[in-house]
Amino acid sequence: MSGDTRTMGPASRDGVPFATIIPMLSRASILDRYRAVRSTTERLAAPLQIEDYVLQVMPDVSPTRWHLAHVTWFFETFVLGPHAAGYRGFDDRYRFLFNSYYNAVGPQFSRPDRGHLSRPTVAEVYAYRAHVDRAMADFIEHGDERSFGACADILTLGLHHEQQHQELILTDIKFNLGVNPLHPAYHATPIPRGCVAPKSAWIERPGGVSSIGDEGASFAFDNERPRHRVLLESYALASRPVTNGEYLEFVSDAGYRDWRHWLSEGWRVVRERGWEAPLYWEQHDAEWMVQTLSGLVPIDLEAPVAHVSYLEADAFARWRGARLPTEVEWEAAAADEPVTGHFMDAGIYHPLPADGDGFVQLYGDVWEWTASSYAPYPGFRPLDGPAIEYNGKFMVGQMVLRGGSCATPAGHIRPTYRNFFPPDARWQFSGVRLARDV
Ligand SMILES: [Fe+2]
Repeated sequence: MSGDTRTMGPASRDGVPFATIIPMLSRASILDRYRAVRSTTERLAAPLQIEDYVLQVMPDVSPTRWHLAHVTWFFETFVLGPHAAGYRGFDDRYRFLFNSYYNAVGPQFSRPDRGHLSRPTVAEVYAYRAHVDRAMADFIEHGDERSFGACADILTLGLHHEQQHQELILTDIKFNLGVNPLHPAYHATPIPRGCVAPKSAWIERPGGVSSIGDEGASFAFDNERPRHRVLLESYALASRPVTNGEYLEFVSDAGYRDWRHWLSEGWRVVRERGWEAPLYWEQHDAEWMVQTLSGLVPIDLEAPVAHVSYLEADAFARWRGARLPTEVEWEAAAADEPVTGHFMDAGIYHPLPADGDGFVQLYGDVWEWTASSYAPYPGFRPLDGPAIEYNGKFMVGQMVLRGGSCATPAGHIRPTYRNFFPPDARWQFSGVRLARDV
């Protein structure tokens, strides 16, 4: 977001405001932004059949219908309910049903059971969205200054929150469709092929004192703050992510059957779950195929490997005699690079081969696992108000990923952005960039 005037966020005794300095847009600009985000979400759902909306194949994924309702619940619960005078809720029972994890709001419906419900219907959820959209438009256009100013932060957060769920809609529906032996395609968009990735090269970075984290000049999540100093030893990062062809060498070298490459937890998971290759890879006679949102296709050996867990990324790096970068190393290198790349907006939703010299694909195509645990930065303070539960309480047992993917909205990523997932998660577009000491 950008604007021609800026103002300080509200003061707080208990936490920090969402943005130290919040871009103040005109009401018309905010409404345009709101409508753009909301319509993008519905565009992502448009290719689905009605049966697809309600699937939840594993506890980690949510039905598309749930995503559509939950992001709407966020605006209803945190903007309209407390701030829009005279707002009447669509259905009071939704407060419980579509609450994800906000204990301050109240109890939540069981996450693993979201796919057990045939009601509310998909049509009712779209009606819920329309109800909230009408009220939000009215509030943004006509809400009094005091009420509107009081919720500017949470409204902004709601838009970024919905963008996060846009990526989840794609990754979740990919998993839900991916278990189907009919290999249904989400859309008919062909995946470009035929490009050759540049040879991977090591790019050295000097050690010394550096700074990472957000400075507060525009929107960022609380987990990106505060900006702080870090001490780096000299290191090198690979110029591009690991390709499918390179990862196939690991698979073909029996990498999944040799305990020496694996962390103890990785070796346990590999054996328990029978992993032999990245998620969505299938061997058909001699050919490796991969399930994509465009259906089952031959693996493009030049494209970045995706859908590997942290445990697999670490094992691959060990097998190659390298390691994963820390998030400090990643950000120190990526901060100098333009935030350009292949994002959700291209409408392909599948990583493509790298192109160009120097660092490529730091942003877009695949999230890159780092060797860093998801933990608070020195001086971290959670967001003020209801969003105190947004990030901080998840800072245990997860690893940080950086850079965004082919399913991340282009305007949603930045050098300081910290994504996080458990080390065995692999249904996101997660890949590998190698690092080494120098
Ligand atoms: Fe959410």
